[in-house]
Amino acid sequence: MRVVLLGPPGVGKGTQGRRLAIDRGRALISTGEMLRDAVARQTSLGRQAKERMDAGNLVPDELIVGLVRERTLEPDAREGFVLDGFPRTVPQAVALDAMLAERAESLDGVVLLAAPDDELVRRLSGRWECPVCRRVYNTETAPSRDGRHCDDHPTVELRQRADDAEATVRTRLEVYRKQTAPLVEFYRSSGRLWEVQGTGPLETVYAALVRAMNGGAGRM
Ligand code: AP5
Repeated sequence: MRVVLLGPPGVGKGTQGRRLAIDRGRALISTGEMLRDAVARQTSLGRQAKERMDAGNLVPDELIVGLVRERTLEPDAREGFVLDGFPRTVPQAVALDAMLAERAESLDGVVLLAAPDDELVRRLSGRWECPVCRRVYNTETAPSRDGRHCDDHPTVELRQRADDAEATVRTRLEVYRKQTAPLVEFYRSSGRLWEVQGTGPLETVYAALVRAMNGGAGRM
């Protein structure tokens, strides 16, 4: 299974992608997480990416494509993967198709999750994550047991992402509309898009996603 999760910031790509990857026994590849790790470790990639990420802008295609090329060749991704946050531009999507074709592989499809902007801003202002295992919580919809620490790492305090400040979220939504939304037509026109409503309880969204992937309603 090789699947992409597409959609605006805060729509639930990471949340649903994590569950899908575990259920199907495939690697979850999140370019956002890989970049945040690189920033934290102050690698050359991290230094090049930090300023753009903090401002809510995309990192250059050539940096990301190389990163994904290497990551998808690692042993845990050889049988398939769930891509969260990549591709994000048409050139990235073209590069992904080309790199898979070189390996005689292809994408099964792309899940497009959708939700209104106001809901996305509300979700991101309430998002907290565990710095150790990256588990994501939400003060309104999915709080940790004590509201401050990770359920799986009870001594670790949850933290908020720097780019979840409201002004930066608005920039990220604008960047999504301009640079990433064209991918919807790119994948729809080649019959590879599954459209899934990203609002409602997590379970309901996940069930709709699985139904769409299994050939039910939503295939576009
Ligand atoms: P990235 O980390 O990919 O951020 P994003 O795409 O903006 O997406 P998010 O992680 O913010 O949201 P999500 O959709 O995963 O939502 P989540 O499941 O967490 O990228 C960060 C930056 O890295 C980019 O801005 C860019 O600079 C750079 N970058 C990354 N990839 C790149 C690329 N390919 N090219 C160039 N640059 C790149 O959910 C959000 C919250 O909502 C959580 O609190 C969750 O609990 C809650 N929630 C989820 N679902 C529901 C629901 N159904 N109901 C209520 N609450 C819900």
